[in-house]
Amino acid sequence: MTQTLIVMAHPHRGSFTGSWAKQTEIASRSLGGGVSRSDLVQDGFDPVERFDHYEDSTGFDVLKCQEHASDTGTIPASVLQEMDKLLAADRIILHFPIWWFGPPAIIKGWCDRVLAHGAMHTSKERFDTGRHRDKTVLFCVSTGSQEAESAPDGREGDVRMLLWPLAYTFRYLGCKVAKPQVVHGVHGYWKGDKKEKTEARLAAHLAAHNDIIKDFDNLPLMAFNADHDFDEHGRLRPEAPSVTPFIKHV
Ligand SMILES: Cc1cc2nc3c(=O)[nH]c(=O)nc-3n(C[C@H](O)[C@H](O)[C@H](O)COP(=O)(O)O)c2cc1C
Repeated sequence: MTQTLIVMAHPHRGSFTGSWAKQTEIASRSLGGGVSRSDLVQDGFDPVERFDHYEDSTGFDVLKCQEHASDTGTIPASVLQEMDKLLAADRIILHFPIWWFGPPAIIKGWCDRVLAHGAMHTSKERFDTGRHRDKTVLFCVSTGSQEAESAPDGREGDVRMLLWPLAYTFRYLGCKVAKPQVVHGVHGYWKGDKKEKTEARLAAHLAAHNDIIKDFDNLPLMAFNADHDFDEHGRLRPEAPSVTPFIKHV
């Protein structure tokens, strides 16, 4: 049975983001899969990594603290709960809006704390040798800006680039990452005809989302360089392809 973890970052379940996450849950269950949810805001997840989360915080090297807590079974309960859901999942689907040209801070904090050194990755188990090669991640993202503004030449910046650091975080863990699903022009400022048209467009999108979940295993994936594309200094080899503007030939 396919197990899906839905991670949602939004203060309100009745938002478009919340409705979209609900649709992921309904569609996943209707296909016979299991679903777990992390509604980070509603759950009160603490996204700030800090000294007093750890019993042995001598010197407070965060990676060492995380590793020690992983080795000694002292990972904070709220983080352990998130790790268990993540480890059990084949699919990890994150639902969030773009806030200030990136995911909301609580998503970053969830990564900082849950994707802990030791328990989730080590210096030997990352990228091609990451522990989570059995998992595929999908981002379902809304923007207030219009599609043209979020295009590679749009003034809001290419939304796919804004999402790249988060995608690479999961790539670091070894996960496959599907190309993101992005819905643009989501906000409550429209009035009259424009409001009605937006609501109809968003409702149609939610209805069509079933097919995305049904076809999940065939979704196109983001391209990342393989480990062997980099030399001993970690630089892209001249003969290796550049598959993202974040890592290019100079
Ligand atoms: C703090 C904040 C920052 C925002 N920054 C952006 C942004 O950088 N780019 C953008 O397109 N929309 C931005 N928006 C608009 C949101 O993306 C939009 O409200 C959201 O996608 C609507 O979906 P929702 O109804 O699920 O909240 C921002 C909204 C908030 C509240």
